[in-house]
Amino acid sequence: MKPTVAPFPAARLRRTRKSPALRALVRQNALSAEDFIWPVFVMAGKDAEEPVASMPGVVRRTVDRVALAAREAQALGIPAICIFPYTDAANRTEDCAEAWSPDNLTNQAIRAIKDAAPDIAVMTDIALDPYNINGHDGFVVDGEIVNDRTVDALVKMALAQADAGADILGPSDMMDGRIGAIRSALEGDGHHSVSILSYAAKYASAFYGPFRDAVGASAALTGDKNTYQMDPANSDEALRLVQRDLAEGADMVMVKPGMPYLDICRRVKDTFGAPTFAYQVSGEYAMIRAAAANGWLNGDAVMLESLMAFKRAGCDGILTYFAPAAARLLG
Ligand code: PBG
Repeated sequence: MKPTVAPFPAARLRRTRKSPALRALVRQNALSAEDFIWPVFVMAGKDAEEPVASMPGVVRRTVDRVALAAREAQALGIPAICIFPYTDAANRTEDCAEAWSPDNLTNQAIRAIKDAAPDIAVMTDIALDPYNINGHDGFVVDGEIVNDRTVDALVKMALAQADAGADILGPSDMMDGRIGAIRSALEGDGHHSVSILSYAAKYASAFYGPFRDAVGASAALTGDKNTYQMDPANSDEALRLVQRDLAEGADMVMVKPGMPYLDICRRVKDTFGAPTFAYQVSGEYAMIRAAAANGWLNGDAVMLESLMAFKRAGCDGILTYFAPAAARLLG
């Protein structure tokens, strides 16, 4: 449909912008706390938090503090939390066994959140990088990130998280075939109502830098992730990945990073009409916080504008470190 506009002065497009009431009436998109998934970092210990230097305002929390964060989310109307573990060096190994330990930090945090705030949906991350001695999302054999052996490990990880009570599993690894493998393992184990939110179109992005600090993977990472994450120059490939993941049993799909990839969000939503999420990643968060701290941008206004952009681009929700701050502002 082509927009049609009467000639001036029959049409004066400023008429519908003249007052807050008129602007409210014609506003197409709305942003609310219900649109957010809040990523939180969990670390070992008791009753403690420590700041993430490259993400001002973001902390790593012990499991008991994650439970408190879940109560905060519930009070603010945020429906979901996504857990990322900061793994001690001793638990980063070549075989990545900690990834599917029933008592790893993620699985402890799932149970703690379910106890403290049962209405909060708990999302997890499925990838080997927090547990891998070399920082990669998959096993490395002779310098190659191997696919099929990694998928077997991801399935074990998924089942451990589902057993712990996760509502939404987030495979972020970009291996081929993992959605189908995880889905059939879940069905086989009776986890019929556990959702998969696939990191379907995940780009090899420099915007993940601060996150890798937060989970302690920056120093560990050898090389880059270009053989599994997407080339930022590609667009059609994102549609093929989303189609593939939906066909293998993903319930929801994600585009990541967010703001530099709004064109992909729009194409994915228009093409498939599936529940579509964007991840406003650590680097996007850090840029806004840093500029605001310098007095160069109005931090609150830019935060809300950046989040509204995802709604306009067709996203149903956003993973964002701004979740509690934005929810507070939105009332
Ligand atoms: C790891 C993972 C990453 C992020 C989420 N899961 C980093 C990476 O792929 O290196 C990035 C999140 C962010 O930057 O906020 N599989």
